[in-house]
Amino acid sequence: MKYLLDTANLEDIRRYYEIFPIAGVTSNPSIVKKEGKIDFFAHMNEIRSIIGTDKSLHIQVTALDTAGMLKDADRILTKVDKDVYIKIPVNMEGIKAIKELKSQGVNVTATAIYSKMQGLLAMEAGADYIAPYYNRMENMGLDPEDIIASFAEMIALYDYKTTILAASFKNAGQVNKAHLAGAQTATLDPSILVAALKQPYIEKAVADFDADWKSIYGDCTIAEL
Ligand code: G3P
Repeated sequence: MKYLLDTANLEDIRRYYEIFPIAGVTSNPSIVKKEGKIDFFAHMNEIRSIIGTDKSLHIQVTALDTAGMLKDADRILTKVDKDVYIKIPVNMEGIKAIKELKSQGVNVTATAIYSKMQGLLAMEAGADYIAPYYNRMENMGLDPEDIIASFAEMIALYDYKTTILAASFKNAGQVNKAHLAGAQTATLDPSILVAALKQPYIEKAVADFDADWKSIYGDCTIAEL
């Protein structure tokens, strides 16, 4: 599974990009809001310079109508770069924008997906990524595993070039279930990755190994033998 960071926090992106195997960075207006009134394009360009051009950067439009979304996309592609994945919420205006952007060869991530029809329409419109909102679906009493599995099945059956970029996670268990249901990629708040590796039982195993080694060799490490 590929992991993306769902944050616009530069410090977190710098820190965790060095630690974890990260495939890219995603954001949306609510995530941007957490950073305050940033210089938007300077900030997005800084994210790009941290992650480099071989990782994917996904930036969401803010306009509510198709024409505005296309203008937003154009501005993002001009002010950041042509490789950015333009994130578009899948509603009536959005699906029209996705069709248009794909006809122009622009990279597109279809987002705010809660249903099979939304995802299937976005695939058919040519979206490169579709982003089903796992936790929000659970909150609504929907079955995100079933919905993600349907997307995976359709992609395999009809050879769509779309990748499932599962999003909206609150814990590692949800991520694992999305993966098993067929999501090839997931975008996460870095805290979920940190929590996965910073557990008392892991610390205990490491402390036990350390104590056993030192009981024989003292402070001498393998490198110093
Ligand atoms: O990438 C989508 C995501 O940011 C939505 O997550 O936590 O607001 O449900 P959340």
